[in-house]
Amino acid sequence: MYEATIIELPKIHNVAGNITVINNDDTKLPFDVRRVYYLYDIPGGESRGAHAHKELQQLIIAASGSFDITLDDGNTKRRFSLSRPYMGLYMPQCLWRKLDNFSSGAICLVLASHNYNENDYLRDYELFLNFYK
Ligand code: TYD
Repeated sequence: MYEATIIELPKIHNVAGNITVINNDDTKLPFDVRRVYYLYDIPGGESRGAHAHKELQQLIIAASGSFDITLDDGNTKRRFSLSRPYMGLYMPQCLWRKLDNFSSGAICLVLASHNYNENDYLRDYELFLNFYK
């Protein structure tokens, strides 16, 4: 759990707007980026996640708007709020996660260490607790 941390990403500032670049080779992420996906058009009051991954590591960024993430290692829960496009939450494997409190228009950008694999998901909380032990 304590490996889960907020990573500040580089920001190229310009009066005409900012750019954040994540270079696989230069940005010190704990994993190589293999897949990128994003959640958007999330209706008010909805929550996402409610699963863990056996192997997958992820960096989650609020590319627009804001949302909260609750991480749970079976013993401890930690809640993070993301609202800045240059801040990412690094999530190591084996943490139960829930995303909620999405602002209107929020975009949740996810950088992932592996391709999509349904076998990597733990979607049952009891199974997750047993897997973690
Ligand atoms: P899921 O990861 O369960 O969404 P969330 O955690 O945001 O609630 O994925 C939802 C659906 O999308 C699921 O049926 C699998 C599919 N999916 C893919 O096909 N490829 C992907 O890379 C991802 C992330 C999901």
